[in-house]
Amino acid sequence: MRCMSDDRQAIVAPSVRALPRPVALKDGRTAVMRLLVEPDAGQVCAFFPRMHEESDFLNYFPGEWSLTVEQEREFIREHTGRAGAELLCVESDERIVALAGAHPPKFRRDAHHTEIGVAVSREFWGLGLGRALVGQLVGWGAHQGLRKMYLRVFDDNHRAIALYRSLGFVEEGRLKGDVLRADGRYSDSIVMARFFTA
Ligand SMILES: CC(C)(COP(=O)(O)OP(=O)(O)OC[C@H]1O[C@@H](n2cnc3c(N)ncnc32)[C@H](O)[C@@H]1OP(=O)(O)O)[C@@H](O)C(=O)NCCC(=O)NCCS
Repeated sequence: MRCMSDDRQAIVAPSVRALPRPVALKDGRTAVMRLLVEPDAGQVCAFFPRMHEESDFLNYFPGEWSLTVEQEREFIREHTGRAGAELLCVESDERIVALAGAHPPKFRRDAHHTEIGVAVSREFWGLGLGRALVGQLVGWGAHQGLRKMYLRVFDDNHRAIALYRSLGFVEEGRLKGDVLRADGRYSDSIVMARFFTA
């Protein structure tokens, strides 16, 4: 089944796929997408500081993200099975190389939507993992009966913006001078949302 997003692209209607599942990478290798579990906490604590060194498109400057393994384990425990929450990872050679998640709203007033985030290790950029992870979250969101999912993306993150658009996200608004960048500039953020109902 197909539907039209606001920017007139034809978008395949989302369906949720069972996990764990293999993901074919564009270089011929295969990785595995699965739910994040508590024993992954140590790897997550290594993954994020590395990502913040590799990319200026995430919320933290290098060295700012400081959860302990126990705090991360608690975070995973709190989110597992919770309505509106989903934590995903991709493993290659038994190493976590990408993470994505949907964060549950605190209040019933907001329970119809969720904010998502995604990060792929630099050595795996352009191999299809971002598409696989965000596509999985979109399918999950539709299955959960959400009305929308949204994210904030820096306006020069062209790869991410193209990916989100192709999965049916539309621009909801622009936050002017929203974030300080590594080079001292203040850049705009774009809020993008994927709507599941008219
Ligand atoms: C943004 C990110 C999640 C994308 O993941 P990825 O695995 O590299 O992306 P994919 O390989 O799935 O490619 C997504 C699409 O973007 C397209 N793309 C790649 N580079 C692009 C560019 N410079 N401009 C426009 N489109 C681009 C690809 O062609 C691909 O489309 P296709 O599947 O039709 O070929 C990843 O690069 C990343 O983690 N970056 C650093 C952190 C970050 O920016 N997170 C998102 C914050 S909002």
